[in-house]
Amino acid sequence: MYSSILRPLLFRFNSDTVHESTIKWASFASRSKLCLSCIKALYDYQAPALKQEIAGLAFRNPVGLAAGFDKNGTLVPLMEALGFGFTEVGSITASANTGNPKPRSFRLPKDLSLINRMGLNNDGAATVTKRLKNYENNIPIGINIAKTNNPEISGEDALEDYRTSFLAAVDVADYITINISCPNTEEGKTFEEPETLSALLAHLEIGKDLTQPPVFVKFSADIESVLLEELIDITRHYSVNGYVISNTSSLRDGLTTPKSTLKKIGRGGLSGSAIREKSTRLIRLVHRLTRGEKPIIGVGGILTVQDALEKIRAGADLIQIYTGMVYEGPGLVQKINKGIVRYLREEGLEHVYQIRKKSPLIES
Ligand SMILES: Cc1cc2nc3c(=O)[nH]c(=O)nc-3n(C[C@H](O)[C@H](O)[C@H](O)COP(=O)(O)O)c2cc1C
Repeated sequence: MYSSILRPLLFRFNSDTVHESTIKWASFASRSKLCLSCIKALYDYQAPALKQEIAGLAFRNPVGLAAGFDKNGTLVPLMEALGFGFTEVGSITASANTGNPKPRSFRLPKDLSLINRMGLNNDGAATVTKRLKNYENNIPIGINIAKTNNPEISGEDALEDYRTSFLAAVDVADYITINISCPNTEEGKTFEEPETLSALLAHLEIGKDLTQPPVFVKFSADIESVLLEELIDITRHYSVNGYVISNTSSLRDGLTTPKSTLKKIGRGGLSGSAIREKSTRLIRLVHRLTRGEKPIIGVGGILTVQDALEKIRAGADLIQIYTGMVYEGPGLVQKINKGIVRYLREEGLEHVYQIRKKSPLIES
């Protein structure tokens, strides 16, 4: 029904308008017990073969909501009702921010992709984490932290800015993702460099306090392998627990959307099918570099069951979706989970982690 009726209707309006009204309706549904139970009856699907324990947390299935969709933590109950195995709220930043001027999100239907330059709009770390404290959630909540979108905050102040969000998240989050790869602020990727990443992880005292929730680092889809290898070494030193791979891409490789349209859209992070292979390659590389010992959340261009299986085969323990929700609708969560169970049956496997185990570590 989504592809044949709702999507054509929604795609008549510009992406920013649809996004905003979706968030409004979704927040309303999230607060209504009646809506939640109807949605749960329609969409929720769980199976024992999908359960896993990753980084000490219990996941009922491997499909999570990627950061950026629920920036303010207003949608957690809805995501649970839709059948997600976990959700990642944010990015949150130390100070509240309205983000970049509109238009700031664009569809590329020919490429089943999106370009966005939202610019880290969010209600601020204190407000969002306070909101999250009110939930009695049954699924793990990750909190994704980034630096406030303000180029004047730099050097020591930037480290302290991250720390404010980190400390706000520590009490509430089941895991924390450090976003060092936002392409939509002037200084977004400053921390995707060995020296600055090291300074950041030291400043946040990652790995020192064993009561801290597990910490993941999120890399860009565009990161070069040599740099990635260096950064992985640094994260190991600080006992970072795992990785989210990947964020969006600033490049425009392999698109069928006309160059003139891309020029009109301008800068922004590319997501969806156009970055699927790129992010899968990075997952495979990190799985090999870490010898499969660190959990990977695979994200980037998952629109079908096959895309999800590709990520798991490459070494992802968990997966996340964002653009897939826009093109395939909320039923995608159930579709992927059912598809994984069907695949397990066909392959004579009993559990989702066995798919990953079958993948060779040294595949390039
Ligand atoms: C509109 C939009 C906003 C996003 N905002 C964030 C964000 O605030 N923080 C973050 O870490 N990633 C953000 N992302 C990136 C997604 O979490 C994800 O890494 C990326 O879109 C690739 O997944 P996909 O192809 O399933 O969309 C955003 C993506 C989109 C499309």
